Amino acid sequence: MATRDSWVSNLGFVLAAVGSAAGLGNIWRFPWLTAENGGSAFLVMYLLLIIGVGVPGLLAEFVLGRRGKQTPTGALRSLIGSPEGSALGSFNVVTTIVMLSFYSVVGGWILRYTLVSPVGAYFGQPAQYFGQMSYGLQAVGFHLAFLAIIAAIVFFGVSRGIERVSKVMLPAVVVLLIGLAAWTMTQPDTAAGYAFYLGFDGEYLAANFVNILGPAAGQALFTLSLGAGAMLTYASYLEDDASLPRATLVIAISNTVIGVLAGLIVIPLLFSQGIDPGQGGPGALFVALASVFGSLPGGAVVATVFFATVLLAAVTSGISLLETPVATLVDEYGVSRRRATVGVSLLIAVTGGGLALASSVFRFVSGPLVDIMLSVGLFAFLAIAGWILRTEAIEEFSAGAGRLDALATPWVMTVSWVLPVVVLFSLLSTFTSLAGISLGLNGRAVVAITGTIVCRIVVASATGD
Ligand code: PFF
Repeated sequence: MATRDSWVSNLGFVLAAVGSAAGLGNIWRFPWLTAENGGSAFLVMYLLLIIGVGVPGLLAEFVLGRRGKQTPTGALRSLIGSPEGSALGSFNVVTTIVMLSFYSVVGGWILRYTLVSPVGAYFGQPAQYFGQMSYGLQAVGFHLAFLAIIAAIVFFGVSRGIERVSKVMLPAVVVLLIGLAAWTMTQPDTAAGYAFYLGFDGEYLAANFVNILGPAAGQALFTLSLGAGAMLTYASYLEDDASLPRATLVIAISNTVIGVLAGLIVIPLLFSQGIDPGQGGPGALFVALASVFGSLPGGAVVATVFFATVLLAAVTSGISLLETPVATLVDEYGVSRRRATVGVSLLIAVTGGGLALASSVFRFVSGPLVDIMLSVGLFAFLAIAGWILRTEAIEEFSAGAGRLDALATPWVMTVSWVLPVVVLFSLLSTFTSLAGISLGLNGRAVVAITGTIVCRIVVASATGD
């Protein structure tokens, strides 16, 4: 078998992983979720969850990837030493396919907005424009175009495709976002927006703690690309001398900076036109923000730069989602990368095309289904790293970690006991709101703790620990 591709440099890995993390989640999802959940209160909660849950969770995925040296199916099978590992890995592969199916539809919308912004095609009637183009045959066409872009990159492999492109696109995203945030500061009537976003409101946080926790936890997972196996796959191409804790910190900080920057653009701009940012929901970017662009001098230029930036960010995330199923076919079945890329892309052309035609299914898939699949995936990673491997996981954490290896034991404790409870808690929040059941903070906490203990016992009896 041919040798596996790998990153040319550790920096290349870090840039590609930040590229995966920083995407529609940061620029499309984060600002409207923040606005909908009280602005600064959500921001504070989200930052705490990134530090407390996101960073240790991402480390778990990296540890499994580098230790397993394969895509999720093979990695988890060899790490656990049983066929259940293959099943869990296959679940990850399905997750990435489901995610990319919806992600590519939104990527198609962004592609279209980038192309039509120079002529301000949606400036007159943004809501109507969005309504007409978001689902239907035209949406299918743009979904296929977006998919073709990412397939062309993955086709060339890890070092020649993904790494090369990420090294250019990701810095471009950061520079463009900084430029747009600086431009936003020069706009009139933005003060209220900054105050809403950055002025800490302890009372609101205390009063709405329970309601904010669920969405903030979900966003922390989504934005760090946790639970899908994409980060596991990226880490499988790493050398043993890379410091996983250091890389994780750099990735989490960079991704957070990118999200916060996006908020510094979107929220003050909406306020400047007197638009309540919480009302926009998922259409915020395409309707509310689009109407802001329409009413600003030079709006067409700014809109074009803005949507082009989002497009670059979406592409670097999309490639990590496509890489996972493609590399699985390569690793597990010896299919050539090129054939695998074409085959998987054809599948996603169909599944994404279906979503672009069925708006209600799209909403279910892009919301609750993805949240559930990512949470289940992450729970499995935590159980494997913290409960089943434990000593091996600590060893892998420490390899190349230098002085940060002192954090290995606290990390494995967190992964074993704290994170599973938080993930189950957020999973419960999704289920209860889906089923219309009201279960308060205490109720959810009790079920999450009990569920974790039960799972721990089941795993211990199955593995004979
Ligand atoms: N982190 C990406 C974003 O914020 O847009 C979404 C994502 C990409 C999630 C890849 C999961 C994944 F595997």
